[in-house]
Parts: sequence; structure tokens; C-alpha cells
Amino acid sequence: MGTMEGLEVTECTRCPALVECRSQIVNGVGPGDADLLFVGEGPGKQEDQQGEPFVGRSGSVLDDKLEEFGIEREDVRITNCVRCRPPENRDPTKEELNNCREYLESEIDQVDPDVVVTLGKVPSEHLLDRDVAVTKEAGSVETVELGGQRRDVLICVHPAATLYDGSQESTLENTLDTAATMAGVETDGGQSRLGEF
Ligand code: URA
Repeated sequence: MGTMEGLEVTECTRCPALVECRSQIVNGVGPGDADLLFVGEGPGKQEDQQGEPFVGRSGSVLDDKLEEFGIEREDVRITNCVRCRPPENRDPTKEELNNCREYLESEIDQVDPDVVVTLGKVPSEHLLDRDVAVTKEAGSVETVELGGQRRDVLICVHPAATLYDGSQESTLENTLDTAATMAGVETDGGQSRLGEF
């Protein structure tokens, strides 16, 4: 029903509705040993077409905000809770999230990041296994068991939220600042030194 080779799911038919809708499986991108791992909800239209997470409008917001902290997109790992685009951009169902969880946990295990940053409500609730009021709780860290290991999970607003509500911009910035600190990123004149630590 599904095959994972390293960090990539190469074949999977666990979710009939998503198999029907997807153009391709969208795997995570970025270094396999990244210090920072961002987890979104699932691919949208652009991501489904290009085969890469966060390449649409919310991806531009994320890239720009990372850059403000001297972090290049290429230096972090970005993935999603589900790897196939849900129809009409609906939220993935509990069943779909659970079908894909094994892949996500394996990715987290292999990458072994300093911090897992959940972008928005769906990944935050999925990984913390509770209701999360993201706007209120953004910036807080919880340690949970993922893939048999204790992991620090940092709650973050979804980058797209800043497009609808400008006040979320500072929330996103403060959380990324926390993420950079947790990953030991020193920004030096806008140049990230991620990976040196
Ligand atoms: N939103 C997500 O949650 N994931 C993506 O890959 C793109 C937008």
C-alpha cells in the first residue's frame, strides 16, 4: 500500500480520495540532516503541480520571513502532514492524516532536527494530539513522543494567515526567532550560519 525509500514516499495508495486528486506525491525538501524541520498541512495546487511543499503564496511568505532571520530555504527541511493534495484544498481527514503519519514520523526520525515547527492548526493538533488555539499558543514549545523519540514541537501560525490578518505577521516573526534560537542559528549580517553548529 505504500513504499518509502529514504526520505521519499515513492508509491502509496492508502487514501483513495487523495490518490484520485493528486498529480504526484509531494515529498519533503531540504537537507536530510536539517536542524529545523517545518511541517505544514498538505500540498495545495501549486505544490501538487510542482512536486514541492510550500512553493505557492504561503511558500513565498515563509521564504521571505526565513530570510529576515538570515535563514535560506535551502538550509531547512520543509514537509507536510499528508503528501497528496486533498480535493478542493479541504483539510485532510483524521484517517488520511493517520495513513501518512508513518512517513512523517520516519522523516522526523531520519532528519533528527533540533526542533519541529508546526505551521498552522492541522499539523499542530496532529503532532500534539490535542486541540490547539494556534494564534494564542504560537511560540510555545511542547515535548512529545514522535516516532519513539521525545521531540520539541514549536507551534507556529500558518504563513498564509499573515495574508488575511496582518497582525499575525509579528506572531510568525517571533516564532521563527524562537525556532532560530532553538536550532542554534546565529545570524551574522543577514548570513545564516545554520549547519555549522
Ligand atoms: N500549505 C501547506 O500547509 N503546505 C504546503 O505545502 C503549502 C501550503
